[in-house]
Amino acid sequence: MYTRREIGPQELEAQDVYCEKIKQAIASRPHYAMVDTYGCQQNESDSEILRGWLAQCGYLPTDDPARADVIAVNTCAVREHAELRVLGNVGSLAHARERNPELIVCVGGCMAQQERMKNRLRDSFRMVDLVFGPHEVWQFPELLWQVIERHGRRGNKSRVIAAAPSDGVVAEGLPRRWDSEVKAWLSIMNGCDNFCTYCIVPYVRGRERSRRPADILAEARELAAAGYKDITLLGQNVNSYGKGLGEDKMDFPDLLRAISDIPGDFRLRFMTSHPKDATEKLFRAMAESEKCAHQLHLPVQCGSDRILKAMNRHYDRAAYLEKVAMAREYMPDLVLTTDIIVGFPGETEADFRETLDIVEQVRYDAMFTFIYSPRAGTPAAEMDDPVPRAEKQVWFDQLLAVANRISEEKHAAYVGRTFRVLVDGETGAEPYNLSSRTAGGRLVHLRGDPSLIGRFADAKITSSTTWALYGELV
Ligand code: SAH
Ligand code: SF4
Ligand code: F3S
Repeated sequence: MYTRREIGPQELEAQDVYCEKIKQAIASRPHYAMVDTYGCQQNESDSEILRGWLAQCGYLPTDDPARADVIAVNTCAVREHAELRVLGNVGSLAHARERNPELIVCVGGCMAQQERMKNRLRDSFRMVDLVFGPHEVWQFPELLWQVIERHGRRGNKSRVIAAAPSDGVVAEGLPRRWDSEVKAWLSIMNGCDNFCTYCIVPYVRGRERSRRPADILAEARELAAAGYKDITLLGQNVNSYGKGLGEDKMDFPDLLRAISDIPGDFRLRFMTSHPKDATEKLFRAMAESEKCAHQLHLPVQCGSDRILKAMNRHYDRAAYLEKVAMAREYMPDLVLTTDIIVGFPGETEADFRETLDIVEQVRYDAMFTFIYSPRAGTPAAEMDDPVPRAEKQVWFDQLLAVANRISEEKHAAYVGRTFRVLVDGETGAEPYNLSSRTAGGRLVHLRGDPSLIGRFADAKITSSTTWALYGELV
């Protein structure tokens, strides 16, 4: 049963005590920790908290598994492919463990939260010392301490298999090590109540719950004051932000405006936006908020009404197209991206043609396309799925070709124009050594001095490909 559970200050203080214990236990020499992340931005955000905890426990960060004393793998369950990659990589840590018997291997995240995977990690991956779920990130020090305390008594009893079936956790004030000094994730809510029939996320991330506006605004102010130039608000469906908050309630468009009003030179983005809950109020807020990027990720998933219904998406293609038209009316320069699933159970060639058709109508700037992957425990996994994988692959390749052609055409239209970009890193390649992003999130490669990283600049686009733009600083 779902009950909102706000972690209180006493519970957090207890975690600080575990951090101290760990710090003392590893004080004899420098210890290193590595966090390996799979999946979506929500997981990247959780990994920043794990890094924050590990730093507070006295570990130094490393990206080198051979050097690490703790390896935490933050996993994803959204498609089978993601899970297989994780299992392969976790399996290969057996060698690292042989080299360093002291190594502590932790597996967390959405994959670990599923009962069947948790059991598999416990029974078939003996090198894993700790299994924990996304609801337990706030108590990571306590779990890690249990492992350390029992260390040296390996075998069945010394392992900690958590990932308890819990729900509703909202934790504020956790430590965090931001991955970047330029761009930041800001998680505004967790979980999902939509239960799209193909999707595992509601089962592993639990029911939707929003952080309080005051906590979010305080964090946004902190990021702006620290000089962050790009803030992305995160939630599985940001459009239903605020549900269940009671007196504190604020809806997403108002939250967007409030964050945009915070002083500072930054861009504001968000993801993901469920089409059923995207409203005119949202588009107006985007258009009128000075800092809000005119970029919208609006996953359509499919162009066929019959399949949309079977997916439990609560909109049809006409309603979706109407929203796209409205959003573009408010923001003629809107950069629009989407997710599409090919080969949902029962999808026919005719349904697939409808997907191609909606893609041609909307002309997305970029698309993330996936072949349907059955997830145990979801309704779609029980549906008849007669189309062979090879045929789905043919559809997928066709869709990708269309998506690439449209992206290429859209990118070509940037050439000759000048855009304000945020320089966000080095490409590691010459002659275009810097990477940057337009307000709409398009990637622009530039030539310039690395001291520009973290700054806005004007770039004239000189050439383009399907995936990127190339430009000169002006
Ligand atoms: N909450 C977000 C997306 C979360 S998952 C939203 O609603 O848009 C990211 C994407 O993965 C989804 O949009 C969907 O396109 C894809 N996806 C989810 N489950 C999948 C599955 N079982 N098989 C293939 N793709 C899937
Ligand atoms: Fe999954 Fe649908 Fe929720 Fe997105 S809205 S996380 S696709 S159930
Ligand atoms: Fe994967 Fe969990 Fe995100 S399943 S996509 S990491 S919410």
